[in-house]
Amino acid sequence: MLQRPRGTRDFLPEEMERRRCIEATMRKVGRGWGYREVCTPVFEDLELFTLRSGEGIIQEMYTFEDKGGRKQALRPEVTAPVLRLFVNEGRTIPKPIRWYYFCDCFRYERPQKGRYREFWQFGVELIGADSPHAEAETIMVADAALRACGVSFEMKVGHLAPMKHLLSGLELVFQRIVMGYLDKKDFDGLAAYLASIHREDLYDSLMGLIACRNVEDLFSLIDNLPERKRLEKVFALLDQAEVPHTCNFGIARGLDYYTGMVFEGFADNLGAENQIVGGGTYRLAHLFGGEDVGSCGFAIGFDRVMVSLGEMPVPRLVSAGVASTEESRNYAMRVARGFRASGIPTTVDLMERGLGAQLAHLAKEADFALIIGRREQEKGVVTLKNLHTGEQKELPVPAAIDEVKRFGDR
Ligand code: HAM
Repeated sequence: MLQRPRGTRDFLPEEMERRRCIEATMRKVGRGWGYREVCTPVFEDLELFTLRSGEGIIQEMYTFEDKGGRKQALRPEVTAPVLRLFVNEGRTIPKPIRWYYFCDCFRYERPQKGRYREFWQFGVELIGADSPHAEAETIMVADAALRACGVSFEMKVGHLAPMKHLLSGLELVFQRIVMGYLDKKDFDGLAAYLASIHREDLYDSLMGLIACRNVEDLFSLIDNLPERKRLEKVFALLDQAEVPHTCNFGIARGLDYYTGMVFEGFADNLGAENQIVGGGTYRLAHLFGGEDVGSCGFAIGFDRVMVSLGEMPVPRLVSAGVASTEESRNYAMRVARGFRASGIPTTVDLMERGLGAQLAHLAKEADFALIIGRREQEKGVVTLKNLHTGEQKELPVPAAIDEVKRFGDR
């Protein structure tokens, strides 16, 4: 038997209904904050991601050469594509630009619960607003989206400036390696690496930085940070808006394009793969040939949100199915059309089964049966059977539609 590729998933209707419901909630929050949806291709020129996304992502990319010999990649994330879109099409759009996306991404990772090779992200990019208000807004939108979905989580907010300040004596390539260890929280690896480049001295300062739990702690450690005012302002805005968060200056992020504020959210009830959102301030547009605009954004790991929420019930459309005799099929089809036109999902028999077998089948998948034989056809009515209670009554078609709708509104 052929199987789906490792790290991918199939979704049955119940799961898809749950996913669509949560997706709709996230979209609604994004839209509510003034963000509008964009969509970019599933594959892009490989270069888009190798320019600045970072070694981790590059190692995990699905790449291929197309028939024209061009190197392509399935998108591992959506920020670079959205900024490419901005450079291509968005130059004349008044700033700040608020865009959101809901897309599948591909990373060749070792699959486990909450970590897949194809996964979905809901993200926003706020392009061209280089201010603490913009940074605070992206955190607020992420917080609002997760909260609206009912996820229980902790939001950690930091800034790259203090870490870069401590690492300023290191060449950029070494800085990135150190930040890679910090991102993975691999402190033994970090110590070994610092020893290998004869900078053991940095270990304690970095650990001191990670231990800071508020801006006062931070500025007692590093007092001459040019970004101080801006950093304080972001935290003050979050406090004013009562967005729950903790300070964490150990956040390094796994992608290389971040330049300032960074944040990560962690679900309370997930295991190893508990990071459900990541984002921050970055600069990318100038690398793609556009103006150097400051931007910020985040992406929520939609699949991890779904794992965190579990098998929750979602509102379901009330449904009907026709059980009819063969001679009344035309009339039955007309009745079914009327029900569908009123927004009630309605099926008809396709197996030429007898009335009893049709009803037995409907009992397993519909809320109501519309029983139709010669008598119903001649009177222009339908016998409506509630498949939950067994109750049945003869009604004119509009009255039957109303009855089914009332059941759905309960
Ligand atoms: P990221 O942290 O690489 O950031 O991914 C965002 C979220 O996607 C993660 O927090 C996680 O929940 C989810 N995620 C990542 N990899 C997987 C996977 N293999 N399986 C399931 N979920 C996964 C970005 O992608 C940035 N583009 C975010 C951003 C937007 N920064 C600025 N704007």
